[in-house]
Amino acid sequence: MSRTVVVTGAASGIGRATAEQLEAAGDTVLRVDLREGDVTGDLGDPESVDRVAAEIAERTGGVLDGLVANAGVSVPGELSVKINYLGTVRLVEALRPLLAAAGSPRVSITSSAATLQASDPELVDLLLAGEAEAAIARGAALAAQGPATGYANYSSSKRAISRWVRRVAPTPEYAGAGIGINAVGPGQVRTGMTEDLLASEAGRQQAADAMPTPYNGIADAEHIAAVHVFLVSAANARMTGQVLFADGGFDALRRGDDIWQSV
Ligand SMILES: NC(=O)c1ccc[n+]([C@@H]2O[C@H](COP(=O)([O-])OP(=O)(O)OC[C@H]3O[C@@H](n4cnc5c(N)ncnc54)[C@H](O)[C@@H]3O)[C@@H](O)[C@H]2O)c1
Repeated sequence: MSRTVVVTGAASGIGRATAEQLEAAGDTVLRVDLREGDVTGDLGDPESVDRVAAEIAERTGGVLDGLVANAGVSVPGELSVKINYLGTVRLVEALRPLLAAAGSPRVSITSSAATLQASDPELVDLLLAGEAEAAIARGAALAAQGPATGYANYSSSKRAISRWVRRVAPTPEYAGAGIGINAVGPGQVRTGMTEDLLASEAGRQQAADAMPTPYNGIADAEHIAAVHVFLVSAANARMTGQVLFADGGFDALRRGDDIWQSV
């Protein structure tokens, strides 16, 4: 049965590949991006996020089967926090009623294997507490210390969104409404985001040192898209609250074999 799925960041990279694969499988896709697509808007700006959500509600008649919340940036400034966490959470929440109205609703978020890298605990806590202004100020303060420290804007935005997914997944608002919500954590992917970095031997070495990928090397966007396609399908009937690292083995290599605490 054809499903209607929203894909954000659909003009490029992982989002574009996901939209193409969903359409090839027969789904109807609403592409969202900054300047091109079915719905345009700046997902780093709260008012724009609300406008995008209202337009999606109008176009779908208030029923949405799937959402791939993928748009993001990897800059060492607070923009990473605004788009990757604040805008993503705002859009998912705004579309929750539309998802709850569908028969087998699913959300898949593009997080990152950067979830596992050093982040700023204060920034992560502010984000999870819903302290948007304080989080943006903290992100700006980190960025002011230079790009190495500023990178924590990216890793913290991804750690926070991964934790948010686990936090909301089992709640009445999501599990209780039948909404499965998971995240994908890519490692290195060849997209517009990494084009400059991966263009030179020095850049490729820097990437490999920061995030080794022993299994099949650097990914193409299509490899990550395939995981999103499954996660937003009706076939994904029991998995929720998971962060699936599609990272070429980085997680297994760095965290090892015993990551589960007893409950
Ligand atoms: N490329 C990688 O190595 C990698 C690794 C891990 C995670 N990711 C994540 O994958 C996601 C997709 O990135 P990509 O690699 O496909 O990069 P990309 O730059 O090719 O695509 C990102 C898309 O998001 C859109 N976008 C950016 N800011 C936006 C905004 N404010 N409002 C609306 N749309 C906006 C861009 O216009 C673009 O079309 C991001 O969340 C990124 O953090 C990428």
